[in-house]
Amino acid sequence: MGKTTIATHLTVARNAAGRSVLLVDADPQGTATTWMDMRKDKDVTQVPIISMKGQKVHIDLREQAKHYQDLVVDTGGADSHEFRSALLAADTVVLPLRPGSFDFWTLQKMVDVIEMADTYNENLKAVICLSQVPPTARDRARKDAAAIMAEMPRFTLLSAMTVFRAAFNHCSGEGLVVSEMPNRDTKACTEMSFVHQEIFGRD
Ligand SMILES: Nc1ncnc2c1ncn2[C@@H]1O[C@H](COP(=O)(O)OP(=O)(O)O)[C@@H](O)[C@H]1O
Ligand SMILES: [Mg+2]
Repeated sequence: MGKTTIATHLTVARNAAGRSVLLVDADPQGTATTWMDMRKDKDVTQVPIISMKGQKVHIDLREQAKHYQDLVVDTGGADSHEFRSALLAADTVVLPLRPGSFDFWTLQKMVDVIEMADTYNENLKAVICLSQVPPTARDRARKDAAAIMAEMPRFTLLSAMTVFRAAFNHCSGEGLVVSEMPNRDTKACTEMSFVHQEIFGRD
């Protein structure tokens, strides 16, 4: 759905903003780790990564937060232990959503999971980022999402979104982010930089 793509791009963007950042791979599928392995051979800034597993990710995150200014955590789906425990220590959870892939009940389930975390983490922000939006359906996607979000005040809908672009797909197979690709797709770069700005604010 775009989780790992957003996580890797946010990590590189935090690093470029001069922050010390750790990418945490808390998805047993290890996609972020594979991405980082490919990155090691590339002539780009290297960023540290570690893996975390299980129901105590929040404890490990609090420990790592002592050593880094920012942690970006990539998890599996909302049903996973890692997603749920990471929520207990996160400042912000970013939920990428592909238009057409969600409905009221799917999101309501997500609200339930987040509200469980709220009991332990009262400052948790939850944002939705539209992802892989068909280029000709941006307005429509925003309108549809806004209509559902109006009934779900627990979420903030980002105005930034990523459009479906080959560049995102290509860079994930190279261990890079869109801004590091040869023949960079400037639209993809701008979209991701808006996502970064909206989540972290301007540095
Ligand atoms: N905006 C986008 N446009 C085109 N392809 C994308 C976009 N975002 C992600 N992808 C591709 O979709 C696939 C799934 O994305 P990924 O970020 O790995 O999702 P998740 O981590 O949620 O499973 C990957 O191959 C990725 O390159
Ligand atoms: Mg993933």
